[in-house]
Amino acid sequence: LGLPLIHFDEIDSTNLEARRQAEAGAPHGACLVAEHQSAGRGRLDRRWQAPKGSALLFSLILRPSLGLRRVFALNNLISLAVCRALQKHGGVDAAIKWPNDVYLEGKKLAGVLTEFTSRAEAVEYAVVGVGLNVNQDAQWLAGLDQPAMSLAAATGHAWNRATLLAQILGEMSALHEEFMAGGGEELAREYARRSLILGLEVTVREGQAVRRGKAVGFAPEGALLLEEEGGKVSPIHHGDVSLLDW
Ligand code: BTN
Repeated sequence: LGLPLIHFDEIDSTNLEARRQAEAGAPHGACLVAEHQSAGRGRLDRRWQAPKGSALLFSLILRPSLGLRRVFALNNLISLAVCRALQKHGGVDAAIKWPNDVYLEGKKLAGVLTEFTSRAEAVEYAVVGVGLNVNQDAQWLAGLDQPAMSLAAATGHAWNRATLLAQILGEMSALHEEFMAGGGEELAREYARRSLILGLEVTVREGQAVRRGKAVGFAPEGALLLEEEGGKVSPIHHGDVSLLDW
């Protein structure tokens, strides 16, 4: 993954550009990376901002042969890839807040926006966009509307974003292969070990619906397993989680 690698000094959003390029036939594995986004987008119509040249902003085009039921796993894979790369190459122990936020020291370090297009119940392409806070300083982070962390703020030194991108893409390639070869169960266990919410009481917002329960596990295809009152466990495929006892 990561070829071709297309670099932009400035773009509206790497996800939007990746979708345009995917529609125009860009291949599986293409990666778009930008120094700055004028219209960076987060999940649930939020904005994603970072001072130019400070964060790692990229989108990966994937054309996996996956049915719609399993495509959510891509979210889990990319969050795991970020965690594995940080652990292996930087000694940084990050956690994942389902579905795909990466947390460090209890604050958000990275966000993922996955968008896909399907045809006849199969995924045509997926765009996996990652915004990782790398060299933003603590003062800038403090101005955001939710608690945020950067690698530099956590470790006290600047990080090379190109090296980090190569490491994350390497981990993502390995994870993607593992998953496609049937390793979903094992990856769900690794994901659970990294999870910030496993075993906790949570509130999950799925569009207008709000459900409460205990996060008891993760399914191989990426769903959160929520145990509600009465002990019934059901898979939740999308949503936004808040922790009740945190
Ligand atoms: C979130 O936390 O809500 C997801 C944030 C995703 C941000 C990244 S930055 C690169 C890519 N391009 C975008 O416009 N968004 C994603």
